[in-house]
Amino acid sequence: MRDPQIRWHIFTDSVKLAEAVTKSIVEQSEHAIRERDAFLMVLAGGSTPAAIYRLLSRNDCNWEKWHIYFGDERCLPLGTVDRNDSMARDLWLDHVEIPTEQIHPIPAELGPQAGSEAYAEILAGVGDFDLTLLGMGEDGHTASLFPGNPTGAGPQSPDALGVRDAPKPPPQRISLSANRLARSRNVKVLITGAGKREAVMRLRAGDDIPIRAVCPPGGLDLLLDQAAAPSVPGETG
Ligand code: 6PG
Repeated sequence: MRDPQIRWHIFTDSVKLAEAVTKSIVEQSEHAIRERDAFLMVLAGGSTPAAIYRLLSRNDCNWEKWHIYFGDERCLPLGTVDRNDSMARDLWLDHVEIPTEQIHPIPAELGPQAGSEAYAEILAGVGDFDLTLLGMGEDGHTASLFPGNPTGAGPQSPDALGVRDAPKPPPQRISLSANRLARSRNVKVLITGAGKREAVMRLRAGDDIPIRAVCPPGGLDLLLDQAAAPSVPGETG
């Protein structure tokens, strides 16, 4: 497996991390809009990005140029509180003027097979993303790419994968493949909390955990608070 170039950014705490990441996202959006008149962003699920989504909702950005995609989704009915798109809408997307047709939820309510095929069709017409946000689980998973399952790292991999046996409930999910997640000008992996320490140490030790399958041309920016990375050298973010 190719190895991603990894840059480590360590922050004192999760609040400082969220503030710095939000500032970086806004700056990246302004650059992308100047260069290409659009900003394409993939959202992470889970709880880590919540603080960033709240902070983004308080910014006055050129929202009509933003295009939102999702890195993964749980196969639950639309509007279910545990869906990743529900959290993003509640904290951010419902409070800013991104055109509805530019927000692309994963149709995970269709189930792993039909939903992944439908999202792959949507993505077929989409070029490289400007920014992909990812989280990392305590077992080293990212999006819904779990240990022991295919990560879709190969260049011919489908853009979206159906997952049926996720160890993190619910078991049925849809995930962008590692290859598609990596087709992005910048990939930021958000890692906070002592619960992630073991996965961080495994990553540093070179273990073959799913996040390592995401190999964007520009490398991975890992953004961690000290609770997740007590002994990791690296530039302080
Ligand atoms: C999901 C997420 C998942 C998440 C990690 C970290 O659907 O659960 O996509 O990959 O990012 O499990 O979750 P936390 O941010 O809650 O620690």
